[in-house]
Amino acid sequence: MHNYRAHSAGYNCATMSIFSGKRIILGITGSIAAYKGADLASKLTQAGAQVETVFSPGAEKFVTPLTFQSVTGRKAFTDAELWGGEAHVLHVGLGHSADLLIIAPCTANTLAKMAHGQADNLLTVTALAAECPTLIAPAMDGGMFAHPATQENVRILTERGVTFVGPAPGHLASGLVGVGRMSEPLEILGMARVTLGRKLGPLRGKRLVITAGGSLEPIDPVRVISNRSSGKQGYALAQAALEMGAKVTLISHPTALTAPVGVDLVSVETVQQMLEAVTSAIRAADGLIMAAAVADFRVKKVSENKLKKRDGIPQIELEAAPDVLAAVASLRGDVSRLKVVVGFAAESRDLLENAQSKLISKKLDLIAANDISAVDAGFAVETNRVSLLFADGRREELPLLSKDEVAEHILTRVTEFLE
Ligand code: CTP
Repeated sequence: MHNYRAHSAGYNCATMSIFSGKRIILGITGSIAAYKGADLASKLTQAGAQVETVFSPGAEKFVTPLTFQSVTGRKAFTDAELWGGEAHVLHVGLGHSADLLIIAPCTANTLAKMAHGQADNLLTVTALAAECPTLIAPAMDGGMFAHPATQENVRILTERGVTFVGPAPGHLASGLVGVGRMSEPLEILGMARVTLGRKLGPLRGKRLVITAGGSLEPIDPVRVISNRSSGKQGYALAQAALEMGAKVTLISHPTALTAPVGVDLVSVETVQQMLEAVTSAIRAADGLIMAAAVADFRVKKVSENKLKKRDGIPQIELEAAPDVLAAVASLRGDVSRLKVVVGFAAESRDLLENAQSKLISKKLDLIAANDISAVDAGFAVETNRVSLLFADGRREELPLLSKDEVAEHILTRVTEFLE
């Protein structure tokens, strides 16, 4: 199992991948999208996985085992091995020792065989023998995917715990446009990460709500008051939480960042919307991490129409915006089952004193304090230097780390609260 504690203690090493040392069987079936399977094999290998490729007979018509052997550095198996000398137990060996089975692309035919327990080639035999989680990326004509028979097969497999990624809408090999394209390798990679995390990660079975970014408080229909938060730290927390096995609701104001695959994204703009989204999401959550830099003030009277220059310089009156963490504190133990609440303190002076008083006034279990006056830490940069202050008086000073490493460190502490 991936040791997150040992990992997060190694501050100077680059973020270790959940794929490191994992054995993944990659099934390739007879679809034109098989060529994208080679890209996926390459990405999984680069992420540290040991990838064993298994071809269905149809796959060999589109791509060759050599392609996959070249990118994975390992043997790619075909049906020739199923009927060969040593290989009568090959399927069992492959299936038993794997951490994850991915079938990408998966045709309607292989999908149907899997739903009904058929085992007439090395891939379907391996799938039947596999005891690990299974991830399927279907690829077929839109009409075939929409067919009640295929839909029923998807339902059967989903009920059995199989995870599906895609298919996506777009142009299909048939020349038609529909829902049947295999998802992009990056998306499948993201879903593989989530699937492995939910099997092996220390946060499996836990639900976290994570907020990210800043907020947009309207002045008039076109103007807003905002701040410099990029959302990077919150998105890194969401990604790390997914990899550690948590189900994650990410509540964020619009950012330039791509939401991690597998996250439940709730898009908000104002503090009021953030407050409503957070109070609703925490009802079923074990933990909340408020990484968003939410506004403290908002415009008292938002103009319905665009403010015009000819009317002179506007006098904009502000009022206090609701404090999300204060509202959460009043709900704790009542309507929410939250066991851990983490806040952030963005300070430009008296860092630890201010963070300590926020820890107490917002009734937090842990606060991550960062000095936003430093050029290499805080808003809109790739790194962060954070001190962790705990409600029981403990303190931890982390060195300058990437935001991914800070995220992993905070989540390791969150895991301890939830144990
Ligand atoms: N926060 C919140 N609701 C707000 C403002 C902030 O829940 N309206 C949360 C932030 O998400 C963060 C913590 O409170 O986790 C501290 O935010 P920060 O901006 O550092 O402190 P403030 O409470 O806003 O106080 P000040 O701006 O005076 O430092």
